[in-house]
Amino acid sequence: MLVIKKETYDEMSVEGAKIVAALIRKKPNAVIGFATGSTPLGLYKELIRLHKEEGLDFSKITTFNLDEYVGLRPEHPESYHYFMWNNLFKHVNADPRHIHIPMGMADDIDRFCEWYEEQIEEYGGIDLQILGIGANGHIAFNEPGSSLGSRTRIKTLTEETRKDNARFFNNNMDEVPKYAITMGIGTIMDAWELLLLASGSGKADAIKMTVEGPITAMVPATIVQMHQIATIIVDREAGAKLTGIYTG
Ligand code: PGA
Repeated sequence: MLVIKKETYDEMSVEGAKIVAALIRKKPNAVIGFATGSTPLGLYKELIRLHKEEGLDFSKITTFNLDEYVGLRPEHPESYHYFMWNNLFKHVNADPRHIHIPMGMADDIDRFCEWYEEQIEEYGGIDLQILGIGANGHIAFNEPGSSLGSRTRIKTLTEETRKDNARFFNNNMDEVPKYAITMGIGTIMDAWELLLLASGSGKADAIKMTVEGPITAMVPATIVQMHQIATIIVDREAGAKLTGIYTG
């Protein structure tokens, strides 16, 4: 596991974008797992810049997003479909036919989850999975206690995560979805390479446990210690509780 400590959010974002861009240049038809949330926004901004100013070509990539709320239509402003289109896909030349985001409105959610796993396999697996981390150590919507071998499935969101996300729903808990479709921890671990970003003091405890704590399902991100090629990039605040020596 490579841990890179950067000073600022912007430096963290640019460093993360370098890894994604290097993969796309080396393998134009790469399969990339994307994440939502506030953390990867800077990385996406930098990818858009690389596309517009340096011609980084997204036309052949395939994408799989980590998760989506159950019950929100793709055009709902808080859906992860909407997020990805507005913050990345519409600004680059990604081919909509190769973009996959879990369908929160699927009639048969269990069947959809199986299909999603089959699609990932059909495309040859995910080359690089981008991840954020929750204050409680969740990855995607795999909350504490999730099976470390889990696959794509429907999950109940914890109160903590619903409260964290209430700000996106007019601070009205009644509007915050109760369920999500999420890739499982096993699905994420099957990616060839992982890139986890964390920013801000709210993530410092989760990063401390993820990098220097014991592996436990109670902090799902700790499983990243078992991955063959994982890079964790933190800014100063998120990395503040780490005691080991890491690269800058
Ligand atoms: P954030 O969310 O990037 O908005 O902090 C990350 C997560 O909860 O996985």
